[in-house]
Amino acid sequence: MTGARSEIERAAELLLKGGLVAFPTETVYGLGALACNDKAIGRVYVAKGRPGHNPLIAHVASRADAAVFADLDQRATALAERFWPGPLTLVLPLKVPAAVSPVMTAGLATVAVRVPAHPMARALLEAVELPVAAPSANRSGGISPTTAGHVVDELGDALDMVLDGGPCPVGIESTVVDLSAPDVAHILRPGGLDRTVIEACVGPIAATAANAPLRGPGMLARHYAPSHPLRLNATRVRPGEALLAFGPRPLEGAAHMLNLSPSGDLDEAARNLYAMLRDLDQRPVRAIAVMPIPARGLGEAIADRLGRGAVPAGSASAA
Ligand code: TXA
Ligand code: MG
Repeated sequence: MTGARSEIERAAELLLKGGLVAFPTETVYGLGALACNDKAIGRVYVAKGRPGHNPLIAHVASRADAAVFADLDQRATALAERFWPGPLTLVLPLKVPAAVSPVMTAGLATVAVRVPAHPMARALLEAVELPVAAPSANRSGGISPTTAGHVVDELGDALDMVLDGGPCPVGIESTVVDLSAPDVAHILRPGGLDRTVIEACVGPIAATAANAPLRGPGMLARHYAPSHPLRLNATRVRPGEALLAFGPRPLEGAAHMLNLSPSGDLDEAARNLYAMLRDLDQRPVRAIAVMPIPARGLGEAIADRLGRGAVPAGSASAA
């Protein structure tokens, strides 16, 4: 425990000095930098190869810490009270611009905020006592990391330190809810918190129409993509394909097969998704076939990630 504590202290000192520290959250590993430090944030964009127009999430230890720089209305307060700490990000009006670097917000008048639940993330944020920007700790457009090993594989050289908290228990990024307009809420990114529990708290949330102007700068077509092509809703395996299976009756005939959840549990599938995609991506196959996955619960977020991962290379990419 003493060892863990001094590791957190060292990580906090590095962040406060402008360093980059990767750390576990319950969703995926984040690439942390002090939110108010332009230079450190600039290093995050370079390390990820992330386009500068795609803003980052500010991570804080508590709702009170979020309220220092973001405007939480009644809806935001209700959601924060109920689901923070947890896999929920709120996009809110930015109240105190000086609290976060304009590089981090891509110059927007809004800020994305989240209070993560992972004990190591919480300990780190409590030690830093300032907002920490943390995009997923992967190269832009790729698969998010759910272990410290994934982070080192992706970004090793660019980092000052990696905190290892084991595999992420949720395994898919936070749900991003846009509450920046007073009269309407949007889910910008389905994620680790099921839409139905959010709606049970604040009522129905508008669906963003497919042809609506882009509301989440990071919500561009190709993203979360392995290097092999993904073929979704497969009902048989084609020659040379690996199989990402779901449920008790995996398809036959794949050279390599991993099952997201033999029992058909969507939480387990979300937890396994990225690690299994990474594994199959390293196999000498032509493509990765993915069995149909129900869109209920975390299945909505899984479908979103697989759908973006399946967009052919050459389409617009994001972080
Ligand atoms: O679970 C998570 O959210 C992880 C962990 C590390 O906390 N973080 C994460 O960050 O997924 P990132 O940068 O990979 O994704 C953040 C998303 C992007 O789609 C970005 O466009 C969106 O949040 N976002 C950030 N600020 C925004 C803003 N002001 N308005 C709209 N979207 C915003
Ligand atoms: Mg990301």
